[in-house]
Amino acid sequence: MPSPSTLIAPSILSADFTALRPSVELAENAGADWIHCDIMDGNFVPNITFGPLLVQAIASCTKKMVIDTHLMIVDPDRFIEDFVKAGSHQVTVHQETCPHLHRTVQLIKSFGAKAGVSINPATPLSTLESILPDLDLVLLMSVNPGFGGQKFIPSSVAKIRQLHEMRSRLNPNLVIAIDGGITEENAQEVVSAGADALIAGTAFFKSANPAATAAKIKSATR
Ligand code: DX5
Ligand code: ZN
Repeated sequence: MPSPSTLIAPSILSADFTALRPSVELAENAGADWIHCDIMDGNFVPNITFGPLLVQAIASCTKKMVIDTHLMIVDPDRFIEDFVKAGSHQVTVHQETCPHLHRTVQLIKSFGAKAGVSINPATPLSTLESILPDLDLVLLMSVNPGFGGQKFIPSSVAKIRQLHEMRSRLNPNLVIAIDGGITEENAQEVVSAGADALIAGTAFFKSANPAATAAKIKSATR
């Protein structure tokens, strides 16, 4: 069931990797609900980040936050078990990388994790119609995946609204997450459109006052 209050998920991608534990604790102490782990393979997206070993290290630094793993990798089925074993509570794959999306979603669930699907800005929501009833969350990309610190693509707001409408028809329990270019300034707009969970990398970790930024983002209401 979508949470009545807005969820914030700092993306560890924008943290100081020489200070992983303090970064995770910073997020937890700021009231973050999830910690978002961006996994990139240099193939589906033009960047390489980290794998299950680092997710496990991140998971070991928090007892409270949901470990939210975003797989921007080709053939994710090969690694889903590893990421769940590393401590991921929810695993999100890209529609664009999964020719057998239903099978992949069932695979995530078979390991006891929540299942999410993400779509790129150019991918229509209609590609998720059939799978929506099986999903725990949809992660709408509001930038082209690959890097933190990009600018929010304004047409994403209409996409959130459209997904919100699809949810009422197909899966009232679905969580709508939005990822890319989220700031204190646009948080209210995306929440009004129907987003439940806001991923924030740069806005949180590069903030002069991350706790205040998290509080501001969480204060956005429908
Ligand atoms: C982009 C990633 C995002 C990104 C968010 O490929 O999936 O999660 O790290 O970072 P900001 O909030 O800086 O856009
Ligand atoms: Zn992400």
